[in-house]
Amino acid sequence: MNLDDAVAWRKGLADDGKRLVLTNGCFDLIHAGHTRYLAEARELGDMLVVALNDDDSVRALKGEGRPLNNQDDRAEVMAALRMVDGVVVFSGDRATSVIEALKPDVYAKGGDYTVDSLNPEERSSLEECGAQIEILSLVPGRSTSSTVRKMRDADTDSRKLRIGVLASGSGSNMQAIQDAIEAGELNAEIVMILSDVEDAKVHQRAKDAGLPCRYVDPGPFKTKLGEAAQKEIRDRLLAAGVDLICLAGFMRMVKPPLLDSFEGRIINIHPSLLPDFKGLAAWKQALEAGVPEAGCTVHFVDSGMDTGAIIDRERVSVLPNDTAESLHARIQEKEHILYPRAIRSLIPQLLGN
Ligand code: GAR
Repeated sequence: MNLDDAVAWRKGLADDGKRLVLTNGCFDLIHAGHTRYLAEARELGDMLVVALNDDDSVRALKGEGRPLNNQDDRAEVMAALRMVDGVVVFSGDRATSVIEALKPDVYAKGGDYTVDSLNPEERSSLEECGAQIEILSLVPGRSTSSTVRKMRDADTDSRKLRIGVLASGSGSNMQAIQDAIEAGELNAEIVMILSDVEDAKVHQRAKDAGLPCRYVDPGPFKTKLGEAAQKEIRDRLLAAGVDLICLAGFMRMVKPPLLDSFEGRIINIHPSLLPDFKGLAAWKQALEAGVPEAGCTVHFVDSGMDTGAIIDRERVSVLPNDTAESLHARIQEKEHILYPRAIRSLIPQLLGN
């Protein structure tokens, strides 16, 4: 229905003393997670309206390649569900216009949000119209992205590992991965590169290699990603069907929801022989400590800083005349061998073949 019709209908509901529940989302490929969620939302009142993101806003949220179904088809499927009483398509990245027009009694949202992480504009328009906000838990393992992944997994033998890269700097490790792919040494493809630094050299390298690369605003912090950035990165990498996230000189900590959504599928390269010299400029730390040997490590990412399980390492001797720069340069040469090798070793477990 269009918004004007929905407003007139809603007025009739209010006159009859009925409570309106509103929720919003992309609902690209309907699955049991959606239907259970919608049934629960409908129980919170007498009627349920779904505000559906239009195609441009789905693309902006989930990345190129989404939606899989256009907005008319998605609206038709949604309207056919027995627990849905009305569907309104909206544009832009927030449903404020629909909230303001329909003034729902209850607003329901999926459980990867908290009341605090709701978009502030949406939240203040909900508060203004006195809507009760209800966060409903999501059904684990049911999502459009996991459905897409299962369909791809049905064809694992011929399938390439889909890599997403996060990089903050020059991107020489991203380049080393891409070079190994082009040389036929790694059965993989880099499907998405995201950077928290707008003018990082990795953007140019990606462009030269014909790979998709985007800047993601990291938010207000220096060493971690803001909540919106975590979510945007997670959504883009899920939408791109990424099997493995490679941190390649990515200088921020990775936290939930990104960490949870890709549990056991995020790896990092670090310029030291871990567990020694975690943190920044590890090669300088090694030089200052006077150790005879430095190196580099590829490890799984967990919630600590450079603490996850080690996958592989390469050693580099520290020479008497080494400066921080000369040592880092030799470590980087080894990194470019190590990273593709470590990724290759993970392919059987990641693709299940
Ligand atoms: C690499 O040496 C990598 O090990 C390091 O940043 C450099 C990035 O180079 N990463 C860390 O220190 C992470 N803690 P690149 O942008 O040319 O790949």
